[in-house]
Parts: sequence; C-alpha cells; structure tokens
Amino acid sequence: MAEAAILGFLQNNESIPDSGNFAAEHNLDHEEVKNVIKSLQSFRYIEAKELKRETLVLTDEGKKYAAEGSPEFHFFSAVPEEGTISKDDLEKKLDASVFKIGSTQAAKKKWVAMGKQVSRKVQHVEDKVKESLLQLQQGLELDKESLNSLKTRKLIASQGWTGYSDIMKGPSYAPKRKTFATDLTRENLQNWKELEFKEYNFNAMGQPLDAGHLHPLLKVRKQFKDIFCQMGFEEMPTNNFVESSFWNFDALFQPQQHPARDSHDTFFLKAPSTTRELPEDYVERVKQVHESGGYGSRGYNYEWKREEANKNLLRTHTTAVSSRMLYALAKGPFTPKKYFSIDRVFRNEAVDKTHLAEFHQIEGLICDRGLTLGDLIGVLEAFFARLGMPKLRFKPAYNPYTEPSMEIFSYHPGLEKWVEIGNSGMFRPEMLQPMGLPEDVRVIAWGLSLERPTMILYGVDNIRDLFGHKVDLKLIERNPICRVGI
Ligand code: PHE
Repeated sequence: MAEAAILGFLQNNESIPDSGNFAAEHNLDHEEVKNVIKSLQSFRYIEAKELKRETLVLTDEGKKYAAEGSPEFHFFSAVPEEGTISKDDLEKKLDASVFKIGSTQAAKKKWVAMGKQVSRKVQHVEDKVKESLLQLQQGLELDKESLNSLKTRKLIASQGWTGYSDIMKGPSYAPKRKTFATDLTRENLQNWKELEFKEYNFNAMGQPLDAGHLHPLLKVRKQFKDIFCQMGFEEMPTNNFVESSFWNFDALFQPQQHPARDSHDTFFLKAPSTTRELPEDYVERVKQVHESGGYGSRGYNYEWKREEANKNLLRTHTTAVSSRMLYALAKGPFTPKKYFSIDRVFRNEAVDKTHLAEFHQIEGLICDRGLTLGDLIGVLEAFFARLGMPKLRFKPAYNPYTEPSMEIFSYHPGLEKWVEIGNSGMFRPEMLQPMGLPEDVRVIAWGLSLERPTMILYGVDNIRDLFGHKVDLKLIERNPICRVGI
C-alpha cells in the first residue's frame, strides 16, 4: 500500500518533501513508509535523503498539566482575592503534589507572598505553562525561554525521529515495481526474452552447510598432533583397545601383585579372557627379569605366573603401545626413533566431575643411544613451550617402568598456582634390555591426558559436558576452533 502510494504520487509530483508528513497525510504507518523507501531506493526506483530530527514530546506530567492546568495556577486560585489564608489550610485543601510544586512555583513567579499566612501579590495570572504545553501538543513553535523552563521541569523531553526528505524519482523509476525472474527454471529459460532476470548478488552469504562438526577433544588432539609432527615425531598405531596384561603390565616391569593390576583399577575381558599369542622367547626373558632380575637388577623375587600375563584387558595406558613398538624396534638393526600417540585408555575408577572410566592419553617417547635426564627435561621444555607453557617444574615420582620418574608441573597464570600437567621418566633397563635393545640405548618418555587441557581451553568444568551421552550436540556445533601455544 505504501509502495503504491509513493510511486503513484511521484508519477504526478516532483517530490515528497517529508516522509513523516506524507505518512500522516496518506494515513500510512511511518515505519512502513520508511521501509518501502529504503527498498525502493536500493533498487534505484527513487532517491531520498535521510532525515534526522529531534522532536519535543510531552512527558506524563506535562500531559497532565496540559489537560488540567499547572500546579502553581491551582495554588494561586486557592488563595483568596482579598486577605490571607493560612499555609496549613492551603495544604489541607490541595493535593499534596499541587501544594508542594504549586507553592514553590507561585512564590518564584511572585504571584503570592508566602509566610505562615499566604496572600496574593497580583490579582490576575495566566497559566502560561498550560498554554505552552498545549501549543507544543499542536505542533506550534515555542520561544527558547519557555522551552528551557519546560525542559528543566521535565514537562517535555526530546525524542529522536528519523525519516526521509526530498524523495524523488530515481534512474530506474517506474510507476509500478517490476518483478524479476530469480530462478533458472525450464519455463524461465524458455521465456527468457519476455523476462527480466534479477541480477546476481555475488556478495550474498550462502546458506550454512549442514556439515559435520569436530568435537573439542578432536580439535585439541589435532593441535597436539601438529606439535609432535613439527618436532619430528611419528605416530604409533593405537588401534587396539583390547590388550593383554603382558604388554600392558609385564613388559613394563610392573609386578603381578601391583595394585593397578587389580580388577578395581582395571577392566578385564570376559570373552576372550586370555590372549592367544605372545612372543615366547621374550616372555621368558620378562619372566626372568621379574623373578630374579638380570642386567644389573635384582628383580622382584616372586613367582611370575603366565596366566596373569595372558589375561585380556582394556588397556589402562598407551604405554602398552609403546612397549610393543620398542619391542618391534629392538628386532631390527637399531635406529633412533621419536614416537607419539594420542588415543583412548580405560580405568575402572569411580567417576566424578573430572574423572570418567575412559579418557585419552597423549604419549611421547624418544629412543636413542646415550640419552640422559637432561635430554628429557630439555625435550619436555621444548614440547610444553609450544603449548604456551614455557616454565616447568619437576617433582620426583614413581612408575614401575621408569627410573628416574618425574611429575611435570606448569605455572597456571589464571589459577595462580603450579598445576600438574603430566608424568614422565626414563624407561628402566629391566624393561628395555629383555626386549633386546642395545645396552646404551635409553628411552625418555612422557604422558598426559587430552581431557585436562581441553577442559581448560574450552572452560568446561564437568567432564560429562565434554564426553559421553549427556553432551549437548549444539555445543559441539558451535564450539570455536582450538589454538594452543604461542
Ligand atoms: N603411563 C603413564 C600414565 O599412565 C604416563 C607415562 C608415560 C609416564 C611415559 C612415564 C612415561 O600416567
């Protein structure tokens, strides 16, 4: 309706000077008129200038005075023409606000003499406030002084108003808007001579694709993977969640009575409950080192049982993969290696806000002749510096398969304290020598969880919001890309 009115009006008239007046004269909603002008302007049917104005409107109090008269006028009228009236009587007679505002204003205007007794100073007054307000309401101009006084009394307020002025025909003007063909359908192509096609808008954003979304853990994993690859590490194959106790524990010189091997800490498999194949000569050397030592070690001095080693379990750490890899490496002529893995591990633990029975472990190891603890510290510092943690501290720790072992701490500027970020060590000779690695080969290694840095990076404080069936898929869709490091 507004569109037809504007285009029709311009057919016979030079211009529309003011969109506000035009809307009022044609009984149209000004907002709608504005929208139509904007759209017609963008298709160059018309030209128009933006117009901004401050208009003055009456406040609620102003509207009241315009209708009923000002309080000072009521106050004055309540004072008798002759003689006096006591202030108390006036207060009783008048509305509280009329008395309060009216007395001040009437005194200020020198209409009345105020004391305990009140009397008129002039015989006749005009309610200029009411008049001015009425004039404004009718859209009439007011002098500056009256405007200012009404403003300070908060009887009027200014309001921003936008519209258009100088609305004229544009280069593509037509009394009626053309409709364009938008789709390349068979019919449109057949009638292309009669049709006018809408121009392509190459700047328009396309529809967002309904594609897959990476889980935060995968995004953080990618960052860790990149860092390992930049440092020249190769990825180990971790595609077996089921492992034998032998590779998970025994090969790592973890004694068979160790509490971690209890079903309270480890998930054992019911079927198949045992492994079918182990490298027999190596098993023999592992048994030896557990029972009576060798390679300079006294061993654990207990009777090592093959049945324990055969038990299948869900791997409790990816170090099981490291032990398989090092064993494979020991078979050929020795070459130094840098390996890493990031994959799932399982522990039969009580679950809470920060622990689940399964999580992901990040593990790195370097295997070369003559490595020292200094190399381990240096590599850890280089690795964690790439994650944005250049300052580390180490605390002596214990692992059955490493000696020395160190917990890794980093200063967390947000939490303002040192937090544990991983575990590390040098694999023991009792682990490496039975594999057949040369005597002077040392292996430095470290491990950490993927969940912990992910929770910190994404501000998640309950692990169930990150992993498992309670995870909000919308959150996965929307979570930002991950960037770690410096
Ligand atoms: N396997 C250890 C853990 O589960 C991590 C680790 C890896 C420690 C390598 C030392 C060396 O916590």
